[in-house]
Amino acid sequence: MAITYFERERVFRLDTPHTTYLLGLVDQEGFLGQIYYGPRLPEGETLRALLRLEERPVPPSADPRERASFYDSFPFAYPAHGGGDFRTPCLSVQTAGGGCNCELFYESHCISAGKPPLEGLPAAYGGKDGCATLEITCADPALGLRVHLRYTVFSDSDAICQSALVENGGEEPIVLTAALSACLHLDDMDFDCITLPGSWAREREIVRRRLVKGRTGAESLRGISSHQANPFLALCEHTATQERGRAYGMAFVYSGNFLAQAELDQYGKVRSVMGIHPEGFGWQLLPGERFQTPEAVLVCSDEGLGGMSRAFHDLFRTHLIRGQAKRRPALLNSWEACYFDFDHDKLLELGRQAAASGIELLVVDDGWFGHRNDETTSLGDWTVNEEKLPGGLVRLGEELGAMGVSLGLWVEPEMISPDSDLYRAHPDYAMAIPGRVPTLARNQYVLDLTRKEVRDCVYEQIAAVLREAPITYVKWDMNRPLIDVYSPSLPPERQGEVYHRYVLGLYEMQERLVTDFPEILLENCCSGGGRFDAGMLYYSPQIWTSDNAEAMDRLAIQEATALVYPYSAMGAHVACCPSHTNGRVTPFLTRGGAALPGCFGYELDLGELTEEERSQIPLQLAEYRMFGPVFREGDYYRLASFRDNGYYDALMAVTKDRSLAVVDYTQVRSRANLRSLRLPLRGLEETARYRCQGSGEVRTGAGWMLGGALLEAVQADFYNQLVVLERID
Ligand code: DGJ
Repeated sequence: MAITYFERERVFRLDTPHTTYLLGLVDQEGFLGQIYYGPRLPEGETLRALLRLEERPVPPSADPRERASFYDSFPFAYPAHGGGDFRTPCLSVQTAGGGCNCELFYESHCISAGKPPLEGLPAAYGGKDGCATLEITCADPALGLRVHLRYTVFSDSDAICQSALVENGGEEPIVLTAALSACLHLDDMDFDCITLPGSWAREREIVRRRLVKGRTGAESLRGISSHQANPFLALCEHTATQERGRAYGMAFVYSGNFLAQAELDQYGKVRSVMGIHPEGFGWQLLPGERFQTPEAVLVCSDEGLGGMSRAFHDLFRTHLIRGQAKRRPALLNSWEACYFDFDHDKLLELGRQAAASGIELLVVDDGWFGHRNDETTSLGDWTVNEEKLPGGLVRLGEELGAMGVSLGLWVEPEMISPDSDLYRAHPDYAMAIPGRVPTLARNQYVLDLTRKEVRDCVYEQIAAVLREAPITYVKWDMNRPLIDVYSPSLPPERQGEVYHRYVLGLYEMQERLVTDFPEILLENCCSGGGRFDAGMLYYSPQIWTSDNAEAMDRLAIQEATALVYPYSAMGAHVACCPSHTNGRVTPFLTRGGAALPGCFGYELDLGELTEEERSQIPLQLAEYRMFGPVFREGDYYRLASFRDNGYYDALMAVTKDRSLAVVDYTQVRSRANLRSLRLPLRGLEETARYRCQGSGEVRTGAGWMLGGALLEAVQADFYNQLVVLERID
């Protein structure tokens, strides 16, 4: 069993294949503390002596166990506010009487095979053979409050999932003013903190900085995980590289407001927390009610940042993404090709071009419904615009089908345009605060998804379209943050629940969609990559990575995204040139090379390409079909980053059985007096022999890894090349 309780030491030990996590109970009081998280320890080791109670109090006192001092340094597994722990808490409450102290003491525990689902929330899953869950119940007897802390470990993944279920067992209502999901304590190490801040079309830049005293991290208060921050935080040794050193990662399986924070305290110890952002949050628990936090995933690797990424990728691919096995057809998307300016004939022409090139799917993006010819109108009216598309999507789908091209459709179900029949009939469906003029963004309002009738109204309209036409793919978009967050369906004392109830409503809609239409491939999108998070991955195996599809910018965005999320999750297209987002001109082949490792497609008018460019499409598609599965399902190695070296970028994927490896190399900028480059490879079987496709050169895995693949000097910017190695014995 991967979870053991050592009765005498009162220590809980959780093991993953390469890591150990230890929690311990402090004898008399029943405080639950974290002892250790790191590389796997020898069997039976509990490190019990490290869970110290008797640190010298400050200011010095005759009582060596003075409570105030203890509280502010003990590594609480789930710290609560008010008792004297002045670091960031996971739990804060307000009682009916106005008090806000909370103290949690161990009550009971239970270890079981498998992993219970989290009701209404996305969460990692696993069968009874593959994972085990520890539930520790702590209670505050004065409040009648109970917290059930859940920790799950998997036999095939170096990840630990944490969440908390808070239960009001008292007689009075309690308001949770903070209910975070996970807490991690780390000792005495010189850490760097890594986060992924960004902006629209510049999602997820890797920002690495030394952890200094105080609090740092990432957060979103936009109601979505956002372009500006990603629900992820890493702490790594200051000297850690891609391949070496200790790295810890925390990722949040959630798509709304979040806080991911690392705090270096007065004693040089780190507390890192992750959960729903307490700002704007207040959840009322009546007697007997429960609140389930979303789940956080923790990983630890002694193989540098690369090891951390691989641990996340494995967990997400095998225990979170449900449609992972779905085919990822190469697609042609109409957005950059024609924006709102299309009709049946134009789409059919795109379909013809797609068929001629071997592209399998045409995605009709924004503009097919209501009378939407620009962004000012019709969100909420999900009926086909028959003026643009006579015969509707049924006719289009059938005509495309006859050419061997299937039909995909864009929707934006969370929104309502002021110019829509839905708004005219139900203005109250739009989120607004009574007495205030609601704020438009992209000319639209956000629907109040906390209300079932609102969700049902939109879902039923969209489901009717999906039932009628032969649609095989849906792109679910979302194009503005939440403002005016208020729901008339909730009483004043429950308005602090709206942000989270909105996300629960969103999850309910997506769950319905994937249940009712299991054959449809769902891709999430949020003005590009504004909701690229593990919560979304539970519903859609792929997410549109960024509206910036320009190949060189995309290399950096995809590199940062791959720090946490697998390439199998990244929508990646060959887009227009000059780029519509940054004006850059890049060769067609190189644009293909940058998109190859993701979920590949085109987003341009193929009719506007040169003959030569068009002739390259079948080659790109053949590479995608041959090597796409290696990037999507294999182990990922970041070989080089042009953010660091200034001129070239290289990533590598190796199949799990190490029989095939592909390096995707891009020389972003040429250099004067350039020489050939030796690029050390990774992840191969050291003693096995591998043949390089093309050159035919044969070497051992160690030979390729230590000697490096030789890349000839090429005097060109934006040059892309694949290196493919096949194992021959
Ligand atoms: C934002 C998305 O990111 C784009 O790909 C496109 O679908 C537009 N919305 C359509 O409005």
